[in-house]
Amino acid sequence: MGWLARFLSFLLFHLYFHASSSLSFSFNSSFSAMLCQHDQSLALLQFKKTFSIRSDASPWESYFPYPKPYPKTESWKEGTDCCSWDGITCDFETGNVIGLHLSNSLLFGTIYSNNPLFFLLHLQSLDLSYNDFNNSHLSPQFGQFLNLKYLNLSSSNFGGEFPFEISYLSDLVSLDLSLNDFLILETTIFNKLAQNLTQLQELDLTFVNMSLVAPSSLMNLSSSLTSLRLGYCGLHGKIPDISHLSKLVTLHLLFWDSYGGLMIEIEPMTFDRLVRNLTKIRVFRLRGVNMSMVAPSSLMNLSSSLSSLALIYCELQGKFPDNIIQRPNLQLLDLWGNEHLTGSLTRHNWKNSFRHLDLSWTKIPVYLDYDFIGNLKSLETLGELTQLTELDLSDNSFTGQISSSFGSLKQLSSLYLSYNNFNGQIPSSFENLKQLRSLDLDNNNLSGEIPNYFTNFTQLLSLSLSNNRFTGPIPVQLGRLSCLVNMDLSNNKLHGRIPNSIFKLVDLTVLILSSYNLTGEASSATCKLKSLQILDLSNNSLNGFIPQCLGNFSKSLSVLHLGMNKFHGTIPETFSVGSSLRYLNFNGNQLQRKIPLSISNCRNLEILDLGNNNIDDSFPHFLGTLSNLQILILKSNKLHGLVKRPTANYSFSKLRIFYLSSNMFSGPLPAEYFNNFKAMVNSDVKMEYMGDPNNSYDYSVSLTLKGLEIELVKIQTLLTTIDLSGNKFTGKIPQLIGKLKSLKQLNLSHNQLTGNIQPSLGNLSNLESLDLSSNLLVGRIPMQLVDLTFLQVFRVSHNRLKGPIPEGNQFNTFDNTSYEGNLGLCGFPLEKCNSKESQQSAASKEDDSESKIGFGWKVVLAGYGCGVIFGIAMGYVVFKTRNPAWFVRMVEGFQKPKRFKN
Ligand SMILES: *[C@@H]1O[C@H](CO)[C@@H](O)[C@H](O)[C@H]1NC(C)=O
Ligand SMILES: *[C@@H]1O[C@H](CO)[C@@H](O)[C@H](O)[C@H]1NC(C)=O
Ligand SMILES: *[C@@H]1O[C@H](CO)[C@@H](O)[C@H](O)[C@H]1NC(C)=O
Ligand SMILES: *[C@@H]1O[C@H](CO)[C@@H](O)[C@H](O)[C@H]1NC(C)=O
Ligand SMILES: *[C@@H]1O[C@H](CO)[C@@H](O)[C@H](O)[C@H]1NC(C)=O
Ligand SMILES: *[C@@H]1O[C@H](CO)[C@@H](O)[C@H](O)[C@H]1NC(C)=O
Ligand SMILES: *[C@@H]1O[C@H](CO)[C@@H](O)[C@H](O)[C@H]1NC(C)=O
Ligand SMILES: *[C@@H]1O[C@H](CO)[C@@H](O)[C@H](O)[C@H]1NC(C)=O
Repeated sequence: MGWLARFLSFLLFHLYFHASSSLSFSFNSSFSAMLCQHDQSLALLQFKKTFSIRSDASPWESYFPYPKPYPKTESWKEGTDCCSWDGITCDFETGNVIGLHLSNSLLFGTIYSNNPLFFLLHLQSLDLSYNDFNNSHLSPQFGQFLNLKYLNLSSSNFGGEFPFEISYLSDLVSLDLSLNDFLILETTIFNKLAQNLTQLQELDLTFVNMSLVAPSSLMNLSSSLTSLRLGYCGLHGKIPDISHLSKLVTLHLLFWDSYGGLMIEIEPMTFDRLVRNLTKIRVFRLRGVNMSMVAPSSLMNLSSSLSSLALIYCELQGKFPDNIIQRPNLQLLDLWGNEHLTGSLTRHNWKNSFRHLDLSWTKIPVYLDYDFIGNLKSLETLGELTQLTELDLSDNSFTGQISSSFGSLKQLSSLYLSYNNFNGQIPSSFENLKQLRSLDLDNNNLSGEIPNYFTNFTQLLSLSLSNNRFTGPIPVQLGRLSCLVNMDLSNNKLHGRIPNSIFKLVDLTVLILSSYNLTGEASSATCKLKSLQILDLSNNSLNGFIPQCLGNFSKSLSVLHLGMNKFHGTIPETFSVGSSLRYLNFNGNQLQRKIPLSISNCRNLEILDLGNNNIDDSFPHFLGTLSNLQILILKSNKLHGLVKRPTANYSFSKLRIFYLSSNMFSGPLPAEYFNNFKAMVNSDVKMEYMGDPNNSYDYSVSLTLKGLEIELVKIQTLLTTIDLSGNKFTGKIPQLIGKLKSLKQLNLSHNQLTGNIQPSLGNLSNLESLDLSSNLLVGRIPMQLVDLTFLQVFRVSHNRLKGPIPEGNQFNTFDNTSYEGNLGLCGFPLEKCNSKESQQSAASKEDDSESKIGFGWKVVLAGYGCGVIFGIAMGYVVFKTRNPAWFVRMVEGFQKPKRFKN
């Protein structure tokens, strides 16, 4: 059967090759007698033994478009023909193993250089993608497979430096090393690879660390490439002229947008040459590439074969050439996040082949012909869009009722209408959208009851209805949506109890039912939801005890927010080792007794808010062992006694917000802690919002900022605050406090502090609010405080201060109330001082050499003009508003939108 077998193996190999790569063929032993070479069979069996099968080695979720993983190597049995084993392809003529396809096979273990895999030197195709090789170094031995045409090691946890030996594989046609973020590829090796792999058609290096590769190296890539995917790989600088890659059908160049600008750019000339030469391009996808100099009109030069065009977050400016829509093959257009892109798309632009449209965070939808898209009235126009599977019109200014004609987009799997001003009820025609997997209607003015027919959307993974005015109870039948992963119904006018059926949704990872007027007790049935990562039942009227099991029911729980309810009893004591909790908030309940020691098991805790309860305990110094703790709020409880010294010098070193106000602490201020607060010393911090990195959940806390009690719904990492007010602290203000240079607010008011106002406070150059009122402080207000040019709130009222008030800068802006109730202060805004007092005050600044030495006194004002009022401070406060889109857009143009896209 010589030629036939050869032909068949050729055919099958190429079939495999050209078919989807996740397909894998296994030859049936009935095809021929024992084929497999003994030594290769042995090598495979030994290869199998180097791994264990682990259920989490091939990540998979029911909504992944991949086949479900299963252990292919289980079918490998000694004494049977290895060519019949799952995942093995043999050459029929020689019996050599030429294909190994173990994608998604739950393999876990390290691949060392002596792995039996490297005996299989006849391999032409090797696919080990979607396994977990435990951060193995990518062995140089891979360079020995000189017959290899196809190599796929995507998402298989390889790491270390990329071996140059891979460049020996000069026959490679397809190389996929994507999603191995610990793999480091540097310039010289990339160049070798690019120069030697002249047959390469497909190259995917998404999420490989290429931060050391010079972008100009891309010019060395082989012009045979038809698919190039680079993304999130740390390349930075200018994209060079790669227009020699004229055979490209797919091009992905994806980068993160980071605060402070995009890291990679493309010049107009380069871009123009590229698009003109990509005559075969079908998928053109750029993200986070600075194209601000590129005229959008140059997109018109893209080939007519274009089927997918995505330019996400590219800072495109000006008018989008709407004729692009006329491209005969275009199915996808995504211009998300180009905030200065304008234009208009009208019904005449559309082709019926269109499937995916995302214009959110652009200026285009403002001009979008909503009569067409939203108020689709007549059936004849509908025909044009009925194939649409994803529609994103979020973050626009659409008003009025949601058109019932959306209901005719029956293929929709994602519909995003959040952050608009839609009102009225959800139209009953939505009943037809049975294919929906994701429905976001949050942040509108929608009302009425949550429709019952939602329970028929059995594919629904994510349902977000928050920040609307829905009324009535949660439909009991929602418990039937067994695929549901994310349910956010927060901030509506819903009421009643949580239906028990919800607790059957054991896959659920996010459950947010906050601000809701939910009544009854928190059921311990909640603890059945063992996959939960976020549980937020805050701002309701829940009462009774907090179920003990909430402390340890889910290993993955990262957010537990039960704040603003009516819980009483004690805090659960069941927090256990291995907890993933990052955010724990019980603020605003009636909890009593002690702060349980077991909280110190939550090693990942970043925020702990137990404020506004009736906790009757001493200071929980054991929390100092939580090395990630950044925010500790214990205000308004019955905490008492001395704040004992820290247990170690690293205790609380990451703390940025420290709130002990309105308790009954006594004794001296906790100066040793001030010494430990390293995070408050360093003002060179990157601006970010604190939140759950795996979910788009913003952490919130309620604080008193500049005298106002507010709920911060986003917490900037720049916010640093100490509030020890309303206790019985005695003694002097420690000099050490002047070290906390990044401190923005300091409140020591309503204590029994004595001595002078510490001149070292003048070192807190970022301070915006300083409240020392209602103490027993004596002496003068130190002149050094004039240097606090960000100061907006200054209060020293009700002390025993005297002498002249410092003059200049912010001190020109405070009024009488800052100073009232003292013994003898004078100067603006109070009465003039007599001249003797002024002279003394000038002298006192010069004399204060002690503090100058102690704190490396320097003029923090250098570079700032005198008398300028700096009023930018409110930037880190995001208030709770019904429609934060306004804020996000107007004030925080750089803010990352909620949904993750790539
Ligand atoms: C590599 O394997 C993954 C997972 O099976 C697949 O999604 C991807 O398309 C493959 N890459 C190539 C270039 O075939
Ligand atoms: C493989 O061979 C067995 C027995 O001859 C047969 O039952 C089975 O259907 C064959 N499988 C394939 C995929 O051809
Ligand atoms: C995985 O890697 C770790 C760290 O290198 C090592 O200690 C462990 O033995 C490895 N496990 C396996 C199964 O290879
Ligand atoms: C390039 O490939 C050839 C085989 O075709 C090999 O001999 C040579 O060593 C490779 N060069 C580099 C720099 O890897
Ligand atoms: C990429 O590699 C460089 C150099 O080894 C390293 O400094 C950097 O932290 C890595 N980046 C990531 C995101 O791992
Ligand atoms: C553009 O593509 C053609 C082949 O289609 C090629 O000959 C030419 O060199 C390319 N231009 C540049 C600047 O690389
Ligand atoms: C769900 O769909 C079925 C069949 O299409 C229908 O009979 C039933 O009324 C629907 N249920 C709801 C609550 O709309
Ligand atoms: C909450 O529900 C209770 C009882 O159902 C009702 O009396 C109360 O007015 C509701 N409060 C709000 C703010 O809706």
